[in-house]
Parts: sequence; structure tokens; C-alpha cells
Amino acid sequence: MVVLDFILFIAAVLLIIGLRKLSHPDSASRGNTLAAIALALGVVVALIYPLETQNNNYLFIGIGILVGAIIGIISARKVAMTAMPEMVSLFNGFGGLSAGLISLVWLINNGSKGEGSDLGVVLFNLFLGLVAFSGSMIAYGKLSGKLKDEHLKIPFSTVVNILLLIVTLGAIFYFSYLGVLSTPELIAFLVISFIYGVVFVAPIGGADMPVVISTLNSLTGITAAVSGIITDNKLMLLGGVLVGSSGIILTLLMCKAMNRPLLSVIFGNFSSSKGEEKQVHGNAKEVTAADLAVQLAYSQRVCVVPGYGMAVAQAQKILKEVEEVLEDKDVEFKYAIHPVAGRMPGHMNVLLAEANVSYDKLLDLDDANNYLDTTDVAIIVGANDVVNPSALDDPASKIYGMPILNLAKTKNVVVLKRSMNPGYAGIQNPLFFKDNTKMLFGDAKKSIEHILRELKEV
Ligand code: TAP
Repeated sequence: MVVLDFILFIAAVLLIIGLRKLSHPDSASRGNTLAAIALALGVVVALIYPLETQNNNYLFIGIGILVGAIIGIISARKVAMTAMPEMVSLFNGFGGLSAGLISLVWLINNGSKGEGSDLGVVLFNLFLGLVAFSGSMIAYGKLSGKLKDEHLKIPFSTVVNILLLIVTLGAIFYFSYLGVLSTPELIAFLVISFIYGVVFVAPIGGADMPVVISTLNSLTGITAAVSGIITDNKLMLLGGVLVGSSGIILTLLMCKAMNRPLLSVIFGNFSSSKGEEKQVHGNAKEVTAADLAVQLAYSQRVCVVPGYGMAVAQAQKILKEVEEVLEDKDVEFKYAIHPVAGRMPGHMNVLLAEANVSYDKLLDLDDANNYLDTTDVAIIVGANDVVNPSALDDPASKIYGMPILNLAKTKNVVVLKRSMNPGYAGIQNPLFFKDNTKMLFGDAKKSIEHILRELKEV
């Protein structure tokens, strides 16, 4: 017992160090390995612990671990970097479900009876786990494009959302007071909790998904922590607290980045758009790779604005080569990073770190906006919503109120994308029609390869 507790203590320390290392790209890979070792130790200890107290079906557990490991390894190896957010949503959902199931097993083992606050805590955990599960499944559908906003229209969704929340929380207090609930009541509770997760995420569309994803993440963390209390598993409690608290911090940061109040996130449907969106008219002008290369070579300051399209095209490494060639020509070169560019928090930072772009070249939103005011050429690489000026000047826009990378004062803006199609929020971008903006159509990687060839000739 003492030995097992000591191993758990080591695992807890490894987990904290591992998570700490995740905060910087240079140490993130080591941090990931340390955290994985910590969790593996936790699983081993959890398997040995009950040996002394009760019979366990190790064959059943072994098959579960084997099947889970095979699915995990294959999907992690096969997943494309751009599909990572969907995978994270799926895994987050299953994490919430497993933690919720621990509560269900507790209820079954205890005949759905509990003393004091026990039953309330277990029901609350079941509710959070199911919300994290169904909400994450809807988020997965939205991120993967399998579910469109029009498939998920729920009439009076905010009212339904608040009613369901009142009903479930009321039920938790009521049953906790009674100290028991019947099987039909338990089934009804499960169904309502599941539906609440769907209603919570379904109406949130446009560009607001990042906040939902981090909220669901923190819910899974909290439910894992409560499951740690229920099963007396200290490592699970610690891991859950770390995920839950970091998820809450991330949610607050995302709310700030999207300029959305936290309460409106909890009650769903928090887009602040009003009225009818402005229509964009005009013709977009084009530029050739050769002309752009000359313009870049004679610039003093160049700034890249990366977005989801850079991830799709995997253009980060070739972009780094352009950076090196231009720096040899004494051009200052920076990257403007929007906190929700791409499809997951830190998406652009991860891609650029992979291409060995130095961290001090990455500017956060405020610094980037100052820098863009004095930039000669801004190259937008597959970004769209995060540079859309409607967020600033069109109260009817779905993304109104979201801080953006503002290119209004940048001397020249060049947009690398394949067509005039909209980005994630599904709205037009007036920036593409401005006088100082030119389009370079095509896959971003191919366009940058072309620019690089031309640059070497200048
Ligand atoms: P988006 O607005 O989604 O725009 C991406 C653009 O990339 C598209 O307009 C697309 O245009 C272009 N593109 C796609 N493949 C390309 C390729 N191979 N080469 C060149 N261009 C390509 O991206 P963003 O500006 O990064 O904004 C992110 C959006 O996702 C925001 O609305 C954000 O709220 C949302 N979101 C973010 C997160 C997180 S946490 N980051 C999570 C969920 C949702 P073409 O098709 O014309 O090429």
C-alpha cells in the first residue's frame, strides 16, 4: 500500500512537470511523454489497488485496454494535423462519458441511494459527464463539417437551454434531499442531461466554437476530478483538477479573445449579431507571384497572417524558407497570431514551431495590430474570419465584436487562398475587395513555393 501510494505521488509530480512543459514548444514533446508516463503509472496502480479488497475481472479490463489502445494508436497515427481538433473533441467526449459512467456504476452499486450530499455529487457528476459527451459529439460534427448550422436549428434554444438547466439542477437537489431515485427517474435524468449537452452546443455557430470547445474540455476535467473523489483515486482527482482548472482559464482567455461574456456562453447562443448582414460588392484584384516577390524583396517590413488554410496546405515550412531569404535581404519578417486562428487553441503556434520559426517572431493580437499599422506587405496565408473587418463595423455580422487582426492601415495586403469562398463562420470578407488588397489564388503551399522561386531571382 505504501509503495503504491509512493508510485502515485511520483506519477502526480511527473504529471505536473509534464503539463508545465507543455507551455513551450521546445519542451512540449518531453512534457507530453512525462504526462503519458504519469498516466500509465496511474492506470497500473489503479489496477493493483483493488486486488487487496475485491475480485476483479482482469480479463475484461485487459480486453478494454487492448481495444482502446489499438483504436488510440491507429487514430493518432492516421489523423491529419487539420483533423486534430475533431479528434480532440471526440476524445474529450469519451473522457466525459467514462467519468459519467463511473457515477452510473456508483448509483447501480448503491441501489441509487445516497446519504448526505453523496447522491447529489454523483448525480451532478453524471450530468456533467453526459453534457461533456453529447456536447463534444455535436462539436465534433460541426468541426468536421458533418453537421451544418442549418441541421441544428432549435426553436427558442436559449429558453430551452435555461429550462433544461433549471430542471436538471432542480432534480439533483430534489433527489439529493430525498436520498434516493427510482430507475425510471434515473433514465429520465440521463436523457435530459444528454439533451442538455446537445441544446448547449447546437445553436453556437459562426466563429464562436473555440469558447465552447474549451468549456467542454473543462467540464470533462471537472467530472474526472469528481470521479477521482468517488473512486478514491488521487491521481484521477489531480489530473481532473488540472484539466478542469486549465480548461476554465482557457475558456476565460477565449471569451476575452472573442469578446464574449462568460454567462452567455453558459446559456448558449451567444452571438451578438443584430439585423441583416451588409452585402459586399465589387471586384477583387489579383497579383502574380512574380510581382509579389519583387514587392517583398523591396519592403522593409513584411508580416505573415496565418490561418486555417496554412494548416490545410501545410505551408509553414516553405514559409520559413521565404522568411530566411527575405531576412538575407534585410527585410524584417514577423508573424501575426490571432488566438483563434485555425481550429484549435495554439494551432498556428504549433505549426510554426514545427517549422522551427523562432518564438520571438510571433506577435500576439495587440502587438500584431500595432505592427501591421507600419507593415509594407502583409501576406494572409489561408486566414479569413480572423481578418474580417465586419467584426468591427457590421453589427449584423455573426462575428461582430470579435477582436481581429486589423489590416486597415497596412500598406499592401496579399491574400493567399484558393477561391473567394468564406471561412469557418461562412460569411463574406469585405477586406478582399479593399483598394490595398490583392488576391493570389491557389493552394497556399504551391503559391509560396512559386513566390520563393521568384524571390531567388530578384
Ligand atoms: P477561416 O476563417 O476558417 O478561413 C480559412 C481560409 O483558408 C478559407 O477561407 C479557405 O479559403 C482557406 N484555405 C483552405 N485551404 C487552403 C489551402 N490549401 N490553401 C490556401 N488557402 C486555403 O480561418 P481563420 O481565419 O484561421 O479563422 C478560424 C475560424 O475557425 C474562426 O472563425 C474561429 O472562430 C473558428 N474556430 C477556431 C477554433 C480555434 S480554437 N482556433 C476552433 C473552432 C473554430 P479557400 O477555400 O478559398 O481556399
